[in-house]
Amino acid sequence: MLKGKVAVISGAAKGMGAALVKRLCFEGCQVVGLDIEAEKLKQLSEELSNRDQTFEGYICDVSNKAHVTDTIQLVIEKYKTIDILVNVAGVISVNPIQSMTMDEWEHTFSINTNGVFYLSQEVSKVMIAKQSGAIVTVSSNAASVPRTSMSAYCASKAASLMFTRCLGLELAKYNIRCNIVSPGATDTDMQRDFWKDGAIEQGIKGVQEEYRVGIPLQRIATPENIVDSILYLVSDQASHITMNNIVIDGGASLGAQ
Ligand SMILES: NC(=O)c1ccc[n+]([C@@H]2O[C@H](COP(=O)([O-])OP(=O)(O)OC[C@H]3O[C@@H](n4cnc5c(N)ncnc54)[C@H](O)[C@@H]3O)[C@@H](O)[C@H]2O)c1
Repeated sequence: MLKGKVAVISGAAKGMGAALVKRLCFEGCQVVGLDIEAEKLKQLSEELSNRDQTFEGYICDVSNKAHVTDTIQLVIEKYKTIDILVNVAGVISVNPIQSMTMDEWEHTFSINTNGVFYLSQEVSKVMIAKQSGAIVTVSSNAASVPRTSMSAYCASKAASLMFTRCLGLELAKYNIRCNIVSPGATDTDMQRDFWKDGAIEQGIKGVQEEYRVGIPLQRIATPENIVDSILYLVSDQASHITMNNIVIDGGASLGAQ
């Protein structure tokens, strides 16, 4: 039963985050979205208020610890509690290791890993006080499968995955469950920018020179495919599940996670 729960979603302005916001609103949650894309947050807010649904966007850079702390403080002042946190915000960087700059490496980690740490640490204080809560981190199947030119992304996602498992272990005694979803190729701007020539078909078929096997189910995921698993993990139906990782990649990692 999700109705009435307060949910905080990072990376809410577009892609998977926006799809999750819409679904949680539909389920009757009070949804707070964090993102750096002010205009897109505003558009989402207008779209949802036309449907009489409760959504509020906050401009928040998850890679900035002080910004995260201040934003969560504002959310708590207004909504009094947080029941659900989903770490969706993420960036991809594509560059072979020999030409990767320190800036690229740090930028990728600052959002994909540090952002998950800052937000989870801050929100879990509220959850510990009330002895309940559900946290989900969106990692990637690239956390477990090495990819050429994606070392920073793969490593940052592996770190956020293991961080979330450790979080789940430390918070289990407070009745707080922490799980991970690991999508494969999913139809959002991030994926379309990745295949710059628009050749998502290459990802489906596989690219032998890059040791990239294709997707056995022969299609990329929709954002809603990922949202379905997140919804399950934050719901009471998953009340005995924690520190788990659901891989949603059409079989691309051959179940070898
Ligand atoms: N699309 C895929 O194929 C795919 C596959 C595996 C994992 N993922 C992961 O899923 C998550 C969602 O990806 P998506 O495909 O929806 O991407 P997207 O680029 O469509 O959306 C990402 C969102 O994160 C926000 N964001 C970026 N930096 C931020 C920051 N510093 N603070 C707050 N918000 C920030 C962006 O503004 C954007 O709204 C990411 O963590 C991504 O790594 C995506």
